[in-house]
Amino acid sequence: MSDELDRIRREMHSVLQPEGARPDDSLKITRRTFIHGSLIFGAATVGQAFAWWPLLNTLDIAHAAETPFKFAWISDTHLYPRSLNTRFVDKVVRAAQEVQAMDPPADFLIFGGDLAQLGKIEELELGVDLLKEIKIPKHYIPGEHDWYLDMGKKWGELFGQPNWSFDHKGVRFIGLDTVSRGPDYWTAKNMTPEERMGHMATLDGTVAGPWAGVGRDQLDWMEKTLADWDKARPVVIFSHNPLYEYYPPWNFWIRDWREVHEVLKPFAKVTNIHGHVHQVLYNEIGTMRSIGMLATSWPWPYAPEGLPKLTKPMIRVDPGDPYDGVGWSKIDVGATDKVETEYIMWGRKEVFVQSPEDHDKHVSEVIRPRIADNMWPF
Ligand SMILES: [Fe+2]
Ligand SMILES: [Fe+2]
Repeated sequence: MSDELDRIRREMHSVLQPEGARPDDSLKITRRTFIHGSLIFGAATVGQAFAWWPLLNTLDIAHAAETPFKFAWISDTHLYPRSLNTRFVDKVVRAAQEVQAMDPPADFLIFGGDLAQLGKIEELELGVDLLKEIKIPKHYIPGEHDWYLDMGKKWGELFGQPNWSFDHKGVRFIGLDTVSRGPDYWTAKNMTPEERMGHMATLDGTVAGPWAGVGRDQLDWMEKTLADWDKARPVVIFSHNPLYEYYPPWNFWIRDWREVHEVLKPFAKVTNIHGHVHQVLYNEIGTMRSIGMLATSWPWPYAPEGLPKLTKPMIRVDPGDPYDGVGWSKIDVGATDKVETEYIMWGRKEVFVQSPEDHDKHVSEVIRPRIADNMWPF
């Protein structure tokens, strides 16, 4: 990270994260969760995304639900037509069976976007079909892979309005559409819908640019939706992209995240749960925490910037094992005012990290799953 960027981030941090401002004071990482030490040292940098490498992650967050309940999250299934690829189909089948088998059952499922790989009718309908296995109520938000072939036409027919809100047992839930307001890069270049979709489907946003955002109209809608909600009561916001600046070149952000934070600032207990990054992530800005969820399809590498300072991008995917580094999540809103997020990560592989000090020696440290038994104090 350049000195200049570091300076800007520190400056932003002092504005966005005033002394003592945290989402709640009772956040704690429980046993069986490994959190890298750089979380503690890196906490002074805004936009810093923290990663931890789980066997199984549980995260306790203070909340005020009226009665305890669980809900489930699945996202980033990236389904191809069955004729092309059944590997991803098998994983959705597995996730759906596991969600359906939850005991006690989840109150509802959130699908966090990127149901399809290339936005095809066949792919979206396949997703609907596979998720029929899950009988509890289902709420969908779109991903860019679902949208940019026909600009959300089929998605809208299947799932309705891409942004929505409901209250459940003392918590206000909001689903945001962070994908549909991408700047038009296709008309001037006479792109076909397939070409447009092709650029959205790559991680590198060189052509598609900063497409992720919520837009002024949706910000106004969000403000209206929250106007009658007690500022001390919990708000959980679902979005495909993270609601902060993690890594813009991959749209691991939304371009108007500052405006979103302005709307949410008065609320004391805000949790953002997002997909798109295909990896375990955690970040706090002001009174909002963001939690990144696993994909069922594949894990993305950690971004070249915004990583915990001591590490380099990790080699953690076994190409021979399609279950490595992917999965889904359970979220438990407890009677004792806690929300507990549990990553159901199917693969449990060793993780390699490398510190700058070791870089010249080409020495990689192996983080073995056993270390996940350590408890790290805040
Ligand atoms: Fe995705
Ligand atoms: Fe995505």
